[in-house]
Amino acid sequence: MTDTANDTLTDEVVARFADTPDPRLREILSSLVRHLHAFAREVQLTEDEWFRGIDFLTRTGHQCSGTRQEFILLSDVLGLSMQTVAINAPSQPGCTESTVFGPFHVPDAPKLDLGADIAQGARGTPCTVRGRVLGPQGEPVPHASIDVWQADDDGLYDVQREHLPHAQARAVLQARADGSFEFRSILPQPYPIPTDGPVGELLRATRRSAIRPAHLHFMVQAPGWRRLITHVFRRGDPQLASDPVFGVKPSLVADWVEQSDGTALLEFDFVLQPQEGGNA
Ligand code: BEZ
Ligand code: FE
Repeated sequence: MTDTANDTLTDEVVARFADTPDPRLREILSSLVRHLHAFAREVQLTEDEWFRGIDFLTRTGHQCSGTRQEFILLSDVLGLSMQTVAINAPSQPGCTESTVFGPFHVPDAPKLDLGADIAQGARGTPCTVRGRVLGPQGEPVPHASIDVWQADDDGLYDVQREHLPHAQARAVLQARADGSFEFRSILPQPYPIPTDGPVGELLRATRRSAIRPAHLHFMVQAPGWRRLITHVFRRGDPQLASDPVFGVKPSLVADWVEQSDGTALLEFDFVLQPQEGGNA
């Protein structure tokens, strides 16, 4: 028999996982149960509130599709995504910091040549992005894969638009042997995260901003180096202080410098960390 009044329920649930063969799974589930029970006790959760929570999570699941990930969004606005990023941060100083992955990456973006215009018709102020992929000693990382994606002038990713004939404002590029790369695109603008689902409800109920500061997304990887998932943010954007997903880090804020022809230029180097037991 379970004596819930004397808190033995928590111990009993944890004990029920004792035979889990995978020790990491056992550790995670035991800790999750302890924290969930402690949370319910701390706020003295009512049954009505518990039902509302279940309804919220059910609707979050129903909002998910092949192009919409409401659970990632929920993790992002609760700061859990950035907490996980922080726990797994590179240990070596000088390496480019990571930030949230977000829900708008697609695994099969078009492979384009260096110098290409990745906008592919997306509207916005033209800009050029160039830089190098380096190791912590400034050594080139040859032929890194650079996956880049961004929203257009209306604040929408291509996957949020119906009936587009092809991908826009996203590409996979390959840096040169000396680590250098460049491509053309459009100037990123601040935009709201999707607010038409349960996460939007949560933001409205708590009077929180839904507007992300302008940014480009990057995933940079090369054999022997730790994969880097990050953004570059636009300096001066007033939304930098209230990012709804807590993704801004000062080292990731950079200048898009206006050029005489009206376009903008961003120069940014990515510094990768060698993989444990890898090269360099
Ligand atoms: C994004 O920047 O694409 C994003 C990140 C987290 C939540 C929503 C959108
Ligand atoms: Fe984004």
